[in-house]
Amino acid sequence: MVDLAVSRLGQSFANPVLLSSGPAGFGLELAPLFRSKPLGGLTTKTVTPSPRQGNPPPRLVDAPAGALNSIGLANPGLDEFLAQVLPELRELPTVRLISFAASDVQGVEAMAGVLGEAAGVDVLELNLSCPNVEGRPPSWDSASTRELVRAATRATCTPLLAKLSPDVTDVVPVAAAALEEGAAGLTLVNTVRGLRIQRDTGRPTLARMWGGLSGAAILPIALARVFEARRAFPEVPIVGVGGVTDLGSLLEMAMAGADLVGIGLAVMCDPELPWRLCVELKQWLCRRRISRYSQLVGCAHRGGVDVCRTC
Ligand code: SIN
Repeated sequence: MVDLAVSRLGQSFANPVLLSSGPAGFGLELAPLFRSKPLGGLTTKTVTPSPRQGNPPPRLVDAPAGALNSIGLANPGLDEFLAQVLPELRELPTVRLISFAASDVQGVEAMAGVLGEAAGVDVLELNLSCPNVEGRPPSWDSASTRELVRAATRATCTPLLAKLSPDVTDVVPVAAAALEEGAAGLTLVNTVRGLRIQRDTGRPTLARMWGGLSGAAILPIALARVFEARRAFPEVPIVGVGGVTDLGSLLEMAMAGADLVGIGLAVMCDPELPWRLCVELKQWLCRRRISRYSQLVGCAHRGGVDVCRTC
């Protein structure tokens, strides 16, 4: 028997696989899959205080081994989310991680207070790292991260993940700021800021110029950030996101230190992938005679998988 269950963030996740925020929207189109087979969790598209149209098109372009998006946090806003979306999410047999963002301290505090009280919100994920809105992503510096996480955690006791940008020289001080202000864990990472240029016109392809790169192209970057954070914070819950497209990349993310692993862009091509990965993960562990997924988590810090098997 292989045990995939993960107990972190005050929740019992049936397995370590999550839908990460964004590509699956609010996940409701995938409701039949959630009802038929367990999946660890569902992270929603980021919700903001007011509705947002997002950025003008074009806002999605392909890239080698990935895609560049400039969605701009398009979402129906907090009121609509609470009235129309959350009641449906509540029916799904999975852990619900609600991603949210606001442009200032007051907005973050108000959102955290309201969402933290709402039935069906299991975990909050504070998006500090969207590269597609005005200004610098807050998690490009420790001070802004500290200020916004403090605002969120003073408003709610619901476990809060801080979702950080990979576009920093050293993620550890930023993560430390979030944890010192009461974040229960880290989501690493958001997309990597990137650019594409139309070769026939010589102009940037995306209307807003910059976008966020996701997909297999960013796996090594995401792994490095997860590894660095796991080494610095051995006990902190980490959700690893970025470039997980198959069993091999999921295993690497776990070995680097991710307790939970988010699947993002890959679900746009293959919506059943997260569920299939759970089966493949179980088979892989079984073949290796590893009885618990947790034995795999962070084993790259402990001399590898065979060493932790004999622990
Ligand atoms: C977006 O809506 O622009 C993507 C979300 C994000 O990168 O945080």
